[in-house]
Amino acid sequence: MNRTVDSDTVFGLVEMPDAIEAVRSAFVDFELGEFEMPTRLSLGESRFLVMPTYHRPTGSAVVKSLSLNFDRTPPISGTVTWVELATVNNLVIEAEAVTALRTGAAVGVATDLLAAPDASRLAMFGAGAQAYYQVQAVHAVRPLTQVKVVDLDPVRADNLVASLKTLLPDAAVRVAADGADALADADIVNCATTARSPLFSIDALAPSAHVNAIGAFKPGMRELPNELLAAATVFVDDQASVLAEAGDVIEAVGSGFVNADDLVPIGRALRQSPRRAARTVFKSVGIAAQDWAVAHLVARRSG
Ligand SMILES: NC(=O)c1ccc[n+]([C@@H]2O[C@H](COP(=O)([O-])OP(=O)(O)OC[C@H]3O[C@@H](n4cnc5c(N)ncnc54)[C@H](O)[C@@H]3O)[C@@H](O)[C@H]2O)c1
Repeated sequence: MNRTVDSDTVFGLVEMPDAIEAVRSAFVDFELGEFEMPTRLSLGESRFLVMPTYHRPTGSAVVKSLSLNFDRTPPISGTVTWVELATVNNLVIEAEAVTALRTGAAVGVATDLLAAPDASRLAMFGAGAQAYYQVQAVHAVRPLTQVKVVDLDPVRADNLVASLKTLLPDAAVRVAADGADALADADIVNCATTARSPLFSIDALAPSAHVNAIGAFKPGMRELPNELLAAATVFVDDQASVLAEAGDVIEAVGSGFVNADDLVPIGRALRQSPRRAARTVFKSVGIAAQDWAVAHLVARRSG
């Protein structure tokens, strides 16, 4: 039997800290080879994505199919289909909430592993559909005292600040004057934009800052400068996906700034608990194992 689950129901069933735990465990399972997961199918110049994965230990699978249009609200629309071999309890879940939770959760996992233990000041580049959940995820693992928001669109920046003031009533939250202002004292930097060129230069960044970048998901897009990718230890959700899709990493590898073999899968890092490196970057294009992790929670909790 197929049941449908809308995004409001997903947000009611899954809070960000649970999503972070689920995605953490999925990244480890992915590293252990427990997921069968082809690189996603990207059609119509990356405006339609199809992302399947099968999780062997539970005999369950998801297929996410999305349309992306950044001139539309919401920019991401589609479904996550959840199927189990043992039952016929299939779910068709609206993709918006699953995507926001699993993308935030990946950043929460990476920030927890890689940011300084006392990090509390965030620079948030991008004030679009993902931004609120990106901040929520960081706050779940590093309680925030300060957030500065940067977006080309001042209305979006203002709207995000207004909603973050409710999420973080005790933090100093404001629109940054510019990128340099946002980065001046940031311990953590989140990038969730549709930018096509680097958002800042490495000189603007504190040497100890940890950077999360989820925006660039096709070769023509970039958020991070080559110099940062060269100087940092770069963690990724999946090497093959990032090398196929992430414009900033593709550019840095192609121009000799980064050796593809040096990209560290986050699942491997989670198993090894590495010593904190001076400069760290987490680059994620988003993989189906993350969608599976949140859909698994929805399936368990929706009865
Ligand atoms: N890695 C993942 O798992 C994952 C998941 C979902 C979305 N994404 C990607 O993340 C990006 C953001 O997604 P969204 O849904 O929030 O999109 P959105 O269109 O709602 O928001 C993007 C924001 O970026 C801003 N922006 C663009 N260029 C900028 C720049 N140079 N400086 C500052 N701000 C700039 C835009 O004004 C806009 O407000 C997209 O590229 C999307 O494809 C990645």
